[in-house]
Amino acid sequence: MATINYEDIYSVLSEQDQLHLLKYYGELTPERQQALLEQISTIDWDLIRTATQTSSESKEDKKKIEPLGAMELSEIEKRHDEFEALGLEALRAQKVGAVLLAGGQGTRLGFDKPKGMFNIGVTKPLYIFQCLINNLMDVVKQAGAWVPLYIMTSQKNHDETTAFFREHQYFGYDPAYIHFFKQDMAPSVDYNGKVMLEAKDRISLSPNGNGGWFSSLCRAGYLKEMQEKGIEWLSVFSVDNVLQRINDPVYVGAVIASGCDCGGKVVRKVSPEERVGVLCKEDGKPAIVEYYEMTDDMRNLRDENGNLLYNFGVTLNYLFRLKRLEDIRSQKLPIHIVEKKIPYLDENGKEVKPEAPNGYKFEDLVLDMIHMMDSCLPYEVIREKEFAPVKNKEGADSVDTARELLKKNGVQI
Ligand code: UTP
Repeated sequence: MATINYEDIYSVLSEQDQLHLLKYYGELTPERQQALLEQISTIDWDLIRTATQTSSESKEDKKKIEPLGAMELSEIEKRHDEFEALGLEALRAQKVGAVLLAGGQGTRLGFDKPKGMFNIGVTKPLYIFQCLINNLMDVVKQAGAWVPLYIMTSQKNHDETTAFFREHQYFGYDPAYIHFFKQDMAPSVDYNGKVMLEAKDRISLSPNGNGGWFSSLCRAGYLKEMQEKGIEWLSVFSVDNVLQRINDPVYVGAVIASGCDCGGKVVRKVSPEERVGVLCKEDGKPAIVEYYEMTDDMRNLRDENGNLLYNFGVTLNYLFRLKRLEDIRSQKLPIHIVEKKIPYLDENGKEVKPEAPNGYKFEDLVLDMIHMMDSCLPYEVIREKEFAPVKNKEGADSVDTARELLKKNGVQI
């Protein structure tokens, strides 16, 4: 790589009012100096400016939100055989790939390794990654064909994740069908919009959210490979729902039969107030509307039979038509500004791990991709059978609740 010039970086930083990033430059070895300059040279200043400006502006743009409903269990049951046959046909022809989003930091769980390495077993080891692979293996066995699996990691957890899979012989999956790729990183800023230093020679970078998965997958060179292999559908799912069914034939078949650009697995909300994103229509297009974007009236709206109209929460398990993902590839996703605890250097140059949020991270979210599609099939699944997220250390959506649900579903833990 060409040497990066100190003067050039200095002038950019001075223009951006971010010269503090060079505060310790003089204390570093020439190698570390170069590494720091290199890191700074990758910062997208437009992103930082736009994001910090948007954060202080009002976001009160008027959107027209309407219910979208869902394909409910009763209909799925009625058309089960038709959907299953269609799904199996696509799976056997290896037209359906899957992308595991495992680049997050899992800060709420407070586990210092990649979340998928968490052992959810009680009497025997059962890692989160292993649960997901086991679930996908059911489909592989039923279809008699491997599902190409792409695993997104980040710079922070890539080596540990890949080593873990190797060490455990990919939990019985054929490694020829597993591909790892890294997502991009974005700098973190303090409340004044200043990029933070994590060490004297390093700016604070964190994974840029789960919305960048498709562009990162393409950048890693897998789009061409998928096109050559004839993949037409790609599902994307989170690392932390240990009960989720991935690419199960009935679901795949239902989405294909619907003619929609994508589908998403949804669960019936436990109450109108449940804090979960809901698949709706926004300005005529499918969208996931967060619980805080809904008024009380909307949350409680019912049809003539008394059923809630905004009744289906998303589970982060979507199936996209690859062609449509290609079409929207060049479109920018909206940036979400998330308050987080960000390790930083204090005024004495000491590294600090804060106990409370102290700045912002910038994230793209996969849910925004739904709004770029023309149509989406919300597909109902039984909550107790397919939804056991491991988000928190204790309480709701925690290790304990997930263990209970695994047991209820007959999984030996
Ligand atoms: P979450 O929204 O739960 O974020 O991710 P997180 O970083 O894992 O956890 P917290 O909020 O810090 O506790 C939902 C899914 O998106 C993936 C996660 O790995 C998980 O599968 N994700 C999230 C990424 O792949 N990259 C990211 O940058 C963020």
